[in-house]
Amino acid sequence: MTDGNPQHKQRRTSSGGLEIREMEIGDLAAVYELGEELFTAERWPTLYRTWDAYELAVHFASDSEMCLVAEYQERVVGFAVGTMLEKRGSAWTYGHLLWLGVDPNAGRKGIGGRLTAHLQEVFIELGARMILVDTDADNTAAISFFKRAGFDDDSAHVYLSKNLTYDPQYIEFHKKGRVADRPGGVRRAIRRAAELRLAEQRQADLKAAEVRSGDSKADKGRASAAAPAKPAKSGHE
Ligand SMILES: CC(C)(COP(=O)(O)OP(=O)(O)OC[C@H]1O[C@@H](n2cnc3c(N)ncnc32)[C@H](O)[C@@H]1OP(=O)(O)O)[C@@H](O)C(=O)NCCC(=O)NCCS
Repeated sequence: MTDGNPQHKQRRTSSGGLEIREMEIGDLAAVYELGEELFTAERWPTLYRTWDAYELAVHFASDSEMCLVAEYQERVVGFAVGTMLEKRGSAWTYGHLLWLGVDPNAGRKGIGGRLTAHLQEVFIELGARMILVDTDADNTAAISFFKRAGFDDDSAHVYLSKNLTYDPQYIEFHKKGRVADRPGGVRRAIRRAAELRLAEQRQADLKAAEVRSGDSKADKGRASAAAPAKPAKSGHE
C-alpha cells in the first residue's frame, strides 16, 4: 500500500516463507487480536499506554511506515508499531518502539528480531539517532530479547502512581456521566483510519491507471507510426 508520498518506498523482506512488510487495513483485526492476547493487564509494557483499537488505528493512520507485520502462510504472526519522538530542547530525534508482539506459537524463531531490525532501518531513514523501548520490569522475556538485540537499560525510570478514584472531584465528575463514550470513539477512529487508507489507495490506483493508459497510448502512437500504411481496397476482393 502507498501513502501517496512518492519518496516513500515500501520495504519488504522475505526469508524462509516469513515476510516482514508494512501493515495494511486488512491486517488490523488480526494485529489487534494478537495484541489483546499478548498485552494483558499484567503485561502492558507501561502504565501510561494500553493496547486498544484506538491506539492501533491512530498509529496506523499517522505512522503507517512504522507499523509492520510479520506474515507467515498468509497469517499475521507478529507486529511492531513505532513512532518518532523529538524531545524539546534536544537536537536528537528518537524512534520509539511502542508495541512489539509475536504469536507465542511462533516465539523464539527470530520473528521479533526481524521486526525490530526492519523497524530500526525505517527509524534510521527517518532521522532517528536512538531507539527507545519500555517494558514492564517483570517482563523477563522482553528484557532478555531487547538486551540480545543490543538495547541496554542505562537509564532507569520509576513510575509513581496516585489513585484518583477516591478524589471528590473524580467522583463528582463521574456522577455527571461526563466520560466520553469510548467504544463508539474506537469504532469511529478505526473507520476513519480505514477510510483514509482506502482513499489513499484509490488515489494511488487512479494515478497508476493514468500512467498505464498514458504509456499504452504512447505505445499505440509509436506502433501506428512504425506500421506500414494499410493498402487501399482494390475492388477485386
Ligand atoms: C518479546 C517478544 C517480542 C520476542 O519475540 P520472539 O520472536 O520470540 O524473539 P526472537 O525469536 O527474535 O528472539 C528470541 C530471544 O528473545 C528472548 N526471549 C523470547 N521469548 C522468551 C521467553 N519466553 N523467555 C526468555 N527469553 C525469551 C530470548 O533472549 C531469546 O533468545 P534465545 O531463544 O536464544 O534464548 C515476544 O516474546 C512477545 O511478543 N512477547 C509479548 C509481548 C511483549 O512483551 N512485547 C515487548 C514489549 S512491547
